[in-house]
Amino acid sequence: MYLSASNIKKMSRVKRLNIINSVSGVKPGNLIGTKDQNSQTNLAIISSVVHLGSNPPYLGFILRPDQNVRRHTYENILENGLFTINHITSNLIEQAHYTSAKFEKNISEFKKCGFTEEYIEDFSTPFVKESKLKMGLIHEESVTIKSSGTLMVIGRILHLIVPDTALSEEGHIDLNIADSVGISGLNSYYALDKIGQFPFARVDIEKKPN
Ligand SMILES: Cc1cc2nc3c(=O)[nH]c(=O)nc-3n(C[C@H](O)[C@H](O)[C@H](O)COP(=O)(O)O)c2cc1C
Repeated sequence: MYLSASNIKKMSRVKRLNIINSVSGVKPGNLIGTKDQNSQTNLAIISSVVHLGSNPPYLGFILRPDQNVRRHTYENILENGLFTINHITSNLIEQAHYTSAKFEKNISEFKKCGFTEEYIEDFSTPFVKESKLKMGLIHEESVTIKSSGTLMVIGRILHLIVPDTALSEEGHIDLNIADSVGISGLNSYYALDKIGQFPFARVDIEKKPN
């Protein structure tokens, strides 16, 4: 099938949303944990987490502001400057998906969707206990993306929790062992299978196609 810009424009809103949300390929499956000034916690599934730099270690995610609905995650980040990013594992996908429902501010998705809050010293924002690979971040800046009316929320990693068995001597993380999942569109979940690992690519090492 071929679709031109005008074909895409003419589609029903839901079909367009489904297609365009899938075309970027597999996205990382994460839950963002936050807490407001009154200790009300919040958890939201987010598939747009992206690496922005290793030193300092920056990650960002895209927030799609909705004029009609409050965005609790972002409100909480603005209130106390902290958030956690927690990889979703295969046994958690259904509960994780449920966090995208529009719960009231005074309802915590941790409790409602069956997750356990986990805290570490000197970091007041909750991690997801059931998640194996997780990070605690401090908000650095938010960048408005004018063309799409979205916001990139950027944080610096302060704490990183990785299963020993998933981390190699050289620092490679095996997402298979961590049981992290991928997401396509807004409702399809994928298991990840590691199918290769190669040394840093250099022009003087020639590799011919098989
Ligand atoms: C699979 C999936 C991925 C999602 N990814 C994002 C995302 O990257 N950015 C975003 O703003 N919302 C995303 N959402 C929607 C949020 O999870 C949803 O709006 C949620 O209610 C936000 O929670 P909050 O209002 O408590 O912050 C996603 C939803 C699903 C089901």
